[in-house]
Amino acid sequence: MREEKALFIIFGGTGDLAQRKLYPALFNLYRRGHIQKSFAVIGTARRPWTDEHYREVVADSIRGSVDADFYTEAMVENFADHFYYQSHNVNDTEHYMILKKLAQQLDDEYEIGGNRVFYLAMSPRFFGTIAEHLKTQKLVTDHGYNRVVVEKPFGRDLATATELNQSIEKYFPADSIFRIDHYLGKAMIQNITAIRFGNSIFRNLWNNRYIDNIQITLSESLGVEERAGYYETAGALRDMVQNHILQIVSLLTMNAPVSFNDQDLRQEKISALKSLKVYTPDEVAHNFVRGQYGPGEGVHAYRDEDNIADDSAIETFVAGKLEVENMNFAGVPVYIRTGKRLATKATRIDVIFKKMPTNIFPGVALTNNVLSIDVDPNEEITLYINDKDYDTGFKMKQLPLAYRNQNRDCPEAYEKLLHDLLRGDATNFTHWEEVKYSWQFVDAIRSAWDMETPAFPNYESGSMGPQAADELLARDGKQWFFDP
Ligand code: BG6
Repeated sequence: MREEKALFIIFGGTGDLAQRKLYPALFNLYRRGHIQKSFAVIGTARRPWTDEHYREVVADSIRGSVDADFYTEAMVENFADHFYYQSHNVNDTEHYMILKKLAQQLDDEYEIGGNRVFYLAMSPRFFGTIAEHLKTQKLVTDHGYNRVVVEKPFGRDLATATELNQSIEKYFPADSIFRIDHYLGKAMIQNITAIRFGNSIFRNLWNNRYIDNIQITLSESLGVEERAGYYETAGALRDMVQNHILQIVSLLTMNAPVSFNDQDLRQEKISALKSLKVYTPDEVAHNFVRGQYGPGEGVHAYRDEDNIADDSAIETFVAGKLEVENMNFAGVPVYIRTGKRLATKATRIDVIFKKMPTNIFPGVALTNNVLSIDVDPNEEITLYINDKDYDTGFKMKQLPLAYRNQNRDCPEAYEKLLHDLLRGDATNFTHWEEVKYSWQFVDAIRSAWDMETPAFPNYESGSMGPQAADELLARDGKQWFFDP
């Protein structure tokens, strides 16, 4: 097993993301041997924690999220010993000097060799100032790599995202910036390229001659939870469509990359996103639906949740019909939907193939072939075919050919992404140009919506969203394949 050597400096080390995702992911890399002796983590945040307290928090986050069969207490303690805490004000230059000293000391002690990962797990409004200080206070080394990882949201529209990007690129070269979209670390999202470009049957069918439409569903049963402050400034369009959904669209509709490396693959994704038809306000009204949840069984309406405005116009649901204007996908509608407080938690893609051009079986209805990729909760691929009923006579039925991943110990999204990061593989991180075209597409919808006050709430908690989301397909003579 190759040991990756790195010093992590996590800005936002006391935060929710660090505790729920980053520490367990780092631990999993540790127990599998990807990081071993030569790594250390400095957590920073405003709070005045001690190293001991920090290590306890790290250990607890592991106990709370890693399956107890996969570790011993001794492993957790040895791992937590690599963690150091530094109280830090991101605007205070002197604090960076202290951080630099500690970083140097740990680099020597753990024989890390100058590799540094600066993980910005905090509000984007601090990204610029952190990047500047890292550079001017010389926290970047000249004898290893220096990589910056940024979490979403990456701006709130194209203008702010551009500004944000420039504020980091001013100090760090483009290829050292790793923009996280955790969906790109999910096993079944990564499987899209494998299925498309590893199978001749799908390669040949993956275009507008054979695909009728594509459906992407990212439904959540939870409400806004504790994130009112952020969500009231974002809404489902910015929170889920600009990033996760458009990333999935790009993977499904891009042309074949020349090879499977970060440059070639991202080049094709950029082209796919550039091919998205940017809608006029009239087209937005025709092709996009927004919604906000009202009350449901035992749950409040969005507007009655804590810290949400009584008259909030923020959408908790989006459905839309996208058009990808490239040779292979022109004419194939891509229907998307995402929302909170829907009937079930499900992340899935349904690729609906065209019906047979003619039906030779008298009196028998043939269904569309469908390839379903269940990303969450099941990690399952199903191909639906028409099959003869094993009966006398000749009847047909829809037969699901399915494979479900049963491996309990598959690396979780963050573990995979952190491993890629350590290896310098940017394939599953978002390139700036992808961010740019995604915002361009989303901004057109946002600005059309901002011209009118929506009649919210318009869907019941526990449903699959407003009726208009079904009508979007019905008017094209189609329906959602996934109907929980
Ligand atoms: C995040 C959004 O990016 O993705 C959340 O900010 C959402 O609002 C979450 O709940 C869903 O992620 P997952 O991995 O649970 O599908």
